[in-house]
Amino acid sequence: MTELIPKPRGVVATTGEVRLAAHSRLHARTGTQGVGHWLSTALRQATGLPLREGRELDDAGDGIVLQLDPGLGPEEYRLVSDWNGVLIEGGSAAGVFWGAQTLRQLLGPDAYRRAPIRRDRAWAVPYLTIEDAPRFRWRGLMLDVARHFMPKEGVLRSLDLMAAHKLNVFHFHLTDDQGWRIQIERHPRLTETGSWRARTKTGHGASPLWDEKPHGGYYTQDDIREIVAYAAERHITVVPEIDVPGHSQAAIAAYPELGNTDVIDTNALSVWDTWGINPNVLAPTDNTLRFYEGVFEEVLELFPSEFVHVGGDECPKDQWRRSATAQARIRELGLADEDELQSWFIGHFDSWLSARGRRLIGWDEILQGGLADGAAVSSWRGYAGGIAAARAGHDVVMCPEQQVYLDHRQDPGPDEPVPIGWVRTLEDVYRFEPVPPELTPEEARHVLGTQANVWTEVMEDHARVDYQTFPRLAAFAEVAWSALPAPAERDFADFERRMTAHYRRLDALGIAYRPPAGPLPWQRRPGVPGRPKDGPPPSR
Ligand code: ACM
Repeated sequence: MTELIPKPRGVVATTGEVRLAAHSRLHARTGTQGVGHWLSTALRQATGLPLREGRELDDAGDGIVLQLDPGLGPEEYRLVSDWNGVLIEGGSAAGVFWGAQTLRQLLGPDAYRRAPIRRDRAWAVPYLTIEDAPRFRWRGLMLDVARHFMPKEGVLRSLDLMAAHKLNVFHFHLTDDQGWRIQIERHPRLTETGSWRARTKTGHGASPLWDEKPHGGYYTQDDIREIVAYAAERHITVVPEIDVPGHSQAAIAAYPELGNTDVIDTNALSVWDTWGINPNVLAPTDNTLRFYEGVFEEVLELFPSEFVHVGGDECPKDQWRRSATAQARIRELGLADEDELQSWFIGHFDSWLSARGRRLIGWDEILQGGLADGAAVSSWRGYAGGIAAARAGHDVVMCPEQQVYLDHRQDPGPDEPVPIGWVRTLEDVYRFEPVPPELTPEEARHVLGTQANVWTEVMEDHARVDYQTFPRLAAFAEVAWSALPAPAERDFADFERRMTAHYRRLDALGIAYRPPAGPLPWQRRPGVPGRPKDGPPPSR
C-alpha cells in the first residue's frame, strides 16, 4: 500500500500496522481543525467508522492526530504510523493536508469511495515514517470552461482530484471567443448573450460539421464563491483568467462597442461557433479599459488569489493595423507598433492590479513589445518565453504545449478519440522537466512551478476531460511535487508499477481515464478483453 503517487521524498517502513476501528479517534490540534474536518468527512464516508473527536494524543490511540510543526517548511509534512497511531505534522495546515492525502492513499483504494462497500473490513496503515515536501510551490491545472462549459459539479470534482494529486493552483480559464462563463453584475449581457452559442463545430480535418445544438452556461457569483471556498478547504488557490485583448469575441458579441467598430460591423458578431485564432479583438479605447476595470473589480472581490491571469495570447493585430482609432492611439502614446500597443494594454492592467495589491500573470505573448515590471508569464509556446522572462527577472510558470497540453492525443493510433496535436504519452509527461537547463540557479528561482493545461475544444463534458487528463495528470503531479532526477534518469518502470495501485484509486473515484493499451493489470486473465492494442497513426 505504499505505492504512493506523487512519490514522497523519503519513506522508512517497519513491521506492523495501525488498525483504524470503531474506537479510533481523530484529533486535530490547534491550526489543523479545517484539515481534521476534511479528513474525518472523507474517511467517515468511505469507511463508515465514527472517528470520534479525541482530545489528547493518548486519547487518540489507534487513531489519527494532526498538528503543526513550525520547524517544517510551509507545505512540508511528516507522517508517522506506529504503535501510538498515525501522527501527521505539517509546517502549515497545507502541509498537514498533503499528509492527509498521503494517509488516504495508504488506506487503499476503497478510502476514495463515498460510502462503505463492506462493513466488516479492516482499515490499516502500515507502520512507517514519511518525510515529504513539494519541489514547486505552483503545481497547477488549467481547465478551459469557455470552449465547453463544465457545470459547477464537475469543477468541484476537479478540485477534489487535484487535491488527491497534491496540486494546488487551479487556473480557471473563464472567458474566450466561444463563451463568457462568469457573472459580472454591472455588465449582465456578458452572460445573458455571451454564455451561449447556437451551434458548435465538431469533427476534425477538412470537412467541418456543426452540431446545430445550442451550448452554454455560466457560473453565478455565488457559484464562484462556493468554488473558491471549496478550493480553499483543499488548500488550492483559484487563479481566474479573463482573456484580453484577444479571445474576446463572446464579450464583443454581448457589447459590440468593445470591438474595432471602425473596421468591422461588430453588431453582426455572435458568440463564436468554431475554433482557431480569432481576428475579432478588443478595441484599445478608454471605453474598453473602463469596461474591463469594472469586470476586474468584481473578479478581485470574488478571487483572493495573489495572481490574476489576463490572457494576452493569440491577439492578431490585423484589425488594429486597419483601425484609425487604434492607429491614433499608437501615435498619441508614442508607440512603435501594434505589439507595443498590446504591451501598453497589458501594462495598464498590470499597474491597475498592482495598485490593488495583486500581481498580473499572462501567456508568454505578453513579452512582445515589452513586459510590465511585476508581471509573471505562463510559458506555453515551448520554453523560450519562460527562459526570456526568467532571465529578465520575471516569475514564470512552465506549461509548454509540446509537453503538458493534455488536450493533445496520447497515442498515434486510429482509435484515439481526440486525434489532435502532438502525441504525448504518459511516459512523455513523466519525463517533462519544468526547469530548462539553460537557466542559471539564480534564474531558475523565477520558475514558480508548472501547470498542465486542459483546453476543451474537443471535450464536450467531464467524461472526455477525464479521458484526456488521466492517467497523465498523475505523471504530471509527480513532476510537479516530487524531487525527480533529470528526465533521462527517471524510473518510469517504477512509476508504472505504482500506477497499478493508482488505477485502482482512480477506479474508486469513478474516473473515466484512458486505459493503458492491452488488459488493465488486474484484468490479465483469460477471457477478459482489454483495450485493443494501439495501431498505426491515422491518415489525415
Ligand atoms: C494558449 O494555448 N493559447 C495559451
